[in-house]
Amino acid sequence: MKVLFVTSEVTKLYKRGGLADVSYSLPAALARLGVAIAIAMPFYESMSTKNVICVGQLALDYDRRRELVFIFRTTLPGTKVPVYLFRHPILNQYDGEKIVERFAFFSKAVTQLYLYSQDTMGGPYDIVHCQDWHTALIPLLVGEHTKVGHHRHEETIQSKQAKTILTIHNLLYTGESGVSIALKLGIPQSMLHIFQTPLGPAIRLMEEGMEYVDRVTTVSPTYAKEIMAGKHGKSTVDVFTRRGDRIRGILNGIDSDAWDPRTDKELPRTYSATTVIAAKAEIKKSLQHSLHLPELDVPLFGFVGRFEGRQKGLDLVAKAIAAIPDGQYQLALLGTGQKSLIQEFIQLARKHHTISFTHTFDERLAKRIYAGADIMLIPSKFEPCGLTQMIAMRYGTIPLVRKTGGLADSVHDGVTGFVFTEYTASALIVGMERAMAAWNDKTTWHSMVKTAMRQDFSWKRSAKEYLALYQDLVKGSS
Ligand code: GLC
Repeated sequence: MKVLFVTSEVTKLYKRGGLADVSYSLPAALARLGVAIAIAMPFYESMSTKNVICVGQLALDYDRRRELVFIFRTTLPGTKVPVYLFRHPILNQYDGEKIVERFAFFSKAVTQLYLYSQDTMGGPYDIVHCQDWHTALIPLLVGEHTKVGHHRHEETIQSKQAKTILTIHNLLYTGESGVSIALKLGIPQSMLHIFQTPLGPAIRLMEEGMEYVDRVTTVSPTYAKEIMAGKHGKSTVDVFTRRGDRIRGILNGIDSDAWDPRTDKELPRTYSATTVIAAKAEIKKSLQHSLHLPELDVPLFGFVGRFEGRQKGLDLVAKAIAAIPDGQYQLALLGTGQKSLIQEFIQLARKHHTISFTHTFDERLAKRIYAGADIMLIPSKFEPCGLTQMIAMRYGTIPLVRKTGGLADSVHDGVTGFVFTEYTASALIVGMERAMAAWNDKTTWHSMVKTAMRQDFSWKRSAKEYLALYQDLVKGSS
């Protein structure tokens, strides 16, 4: 079984969010199960990757020009998984203008190499596993060559049986673009599912992926159900109705070596389920101290994540802060994101001495919050999977989550955390009050903390599900 895992970000090489964590630990877990897996990603300028060698180059027709892309190889830090890095000026930066075109270009480069020179990246591969909209054009591009079959070098195509999987990590981002992209990529517009916008005809890369890929998965069973029920856009449901297919949800795991309070070097002290109570009290004090929060014996809430107004439920948090009297609790927030939200929380932290807001992306502080907080706030409007709640539980911190997506699939109300349903500030406040009351009852609280720590969110189970899917797909083709 050989799999090429294509992604825009990988932890330890280039990270923006949860996708990077998954793109690190899922291939690593699959390799441990015996899958010969390699990763393909852009070679961003800011990557300070060591031990990189150039293994080949590729000429690519794009936007009526011929572009030269260089392919480098390295390994996934701490593993033997090969990583193929695609270097070209278009791929220097992740962010910025024309982000959709950038990843369309990357997808075409990967496809071209896959079709004509797979051995450059360790092929032949049985399966190409694409992540999110960034790589969602690959199934179409692969299929365009193999199914339409009009390419001049048809005989050089190494795999006409390309099997593809697309995993959706977040349908909020669909890679919307004007149709001119088709011309740049050299694909017929007739293959695209075009819709009208005030700015003219457009496509969504993610939906093109769903149309052409062999299998679609997403990162939790509940998010899969929500998508099929039309909660994340009707056009997606239409795709599946056309396909006569369903989306399958496989719950993400976390890297249980990277997130382990027994060995975590970023903490003032390490701990296990036996030593957790005393250790957390100590770490909480040091956290309060370093965040300039008064060293009070009140429940300390934490929030670590992207400040994304449409998803993360920060509007509810702002209302809860205004409603709950200062002094009853404390809240430590960490993250970056939308400017307006950042401004709002800077103001809130100025006004309330119980609130601390650190406006950076700081993995070390994140770990101290995971370990030092009592309760982790995750009031997302929607959450495809969410890794924060799993990390929190591993560190003995009780998650307070809204019942949606992967949060609903991983937190057990009253046992390993607290769950509220309505997306309203009052429902969040009730949840916070429940958590604070439970915190005051030390016997119950300590047993919850220990139960949470005993949950197994390692990748092993999920990786086995992906392996079964791979096997099924390959068998289906023979
Ligand atoms: C995205 C989703 C998040 C998920 C992550 C990894 O960041 O928003 O819920 O956990 O991808 O799949």
